Amino acid sequence: MVDKDNSRLETLEEYIIQSQNKFPGATGELSQLLRDIGLAAKIISREVNKAGITNILGFDGSKNIHGEAVKKLDLFADQQLISALNRSMITCMVISEENDGIVKLSSKGGKYIVFLDPLDGSSNIDVNVSIGSIFSVYMREPRFDSTLRESDALQPGVRQVAAGYVLYGSSTILAYTTGLGVSVFTLDPSIGEFILSEKKIKMPEHGGIYSINEGSYNSWDPGLKKYIKYCQDEDAETGRPYSARYIGSMVADIHRTLIKGGIFIYPHSKKYPSGKLRLMYECNPLSFIIEQAGGMATDGKKRIMELEPNAIHQQTPIYIGSKKNVQKVMEFLEKHEAVEQE
Ligand code: AHG
Ligand code: MN
Ligand code: MN
Repeated sequence: MVDKDNSRLETLEEYIIQSQNKFPGATGELSQLLRDIGLAAKIISREVNKAGITNILGFDGSKNIHGEAVKKLDLFADQQLISALNRSMITCMVISEENDGIVKLSSKGGKYIVFLDPLDGSSNIDVNVSIGSIFSVYMREPRFDSTLRESDALQPGVRQVAAGYVLYGSSTILAYTTGLGVSVFTLDPSIGEFILSEKKIKMPEHGGIYSINEGSYNSWDPGLKKYIKYCQDEDAETGRPYSARYIGSMVADIHRTLIKGGIFIYPHSKKYPSGKLRLMYECNPLSFIIEQAGGMATDGKKRIMELEPNAIHQQTPIYIGSKKNVQKVMEFLEKHEAVEQE
């Protein structure tokens, strides 16, 4: 952001340190962790931008733990983020979409646990459409002994101490929250720095965009089918019909929702009975961001961030976005569930 008095640009590093200085007791460790992620994001962004030249596009031939084809950039992003977090010795373990179990880092006593979706929207890599990275940070409870266990990481989203995403789009954006609003930075490639673009960003209470993969229409619940029909009906007062937008990279769809308002939905379906998206490294961090900007996120019944996790790679349906849009879809879901039960 341009400082009006001296026209100075504020970098991510400066902003993190200044935010930390407001808390006299702060150890600086969380600030370091955020700076580590900022550094990895710059390296990944550089690689994303020259992916066609360096032959980093395309499958690496293996499948990840979910049986999905792994692209080379997924692995590159995973390695960069994990090694950046390992270097500063404050994170004890990482849970990443690209790794089956927990990844123990060098600092076994490190106080943070980090969840990662290193490369989100990987099906869009080959076609030059926006992709992202997502992170979610928890404290390791001091009552745990020195043995690192998967169960140490299973905490509800309300316990996140920080979360954010990087969007590799027409420009590279980094957005994060520590629970005091959402700050957004834009990478200036000429100086290699993330520059503050907006702080304490607030999203519209209501938006005229709905975002869902309509190819799965036939396996949706009746309430959801009726809600999407409602979005398409004409009504001048609520600005309907809404526009449909679906990028297929959750980070990009959520970033648009943050800026323009509206709703993003990934429901359960026949193909994905528990939803497709991952609670711990997709839904919780992006819900933390959206809530901090004044929005809402539920699984159709409960607040996403209050769900008690029972597995690190667990999936959940998600309804996320502007408050009024999410409240409206919940009304539809509730009403039609009640009708079905009669
Ligand atoms: P990832 O690339 O990390 O596996 O995530 C892909 C996710 C998410 O980004 C996106 O919203 C969703 O998959 C798209 O799924 P569909 O192709 O089923 O719509
Ligand atoms: Mn993803
Ligand atoms: Mn991914």
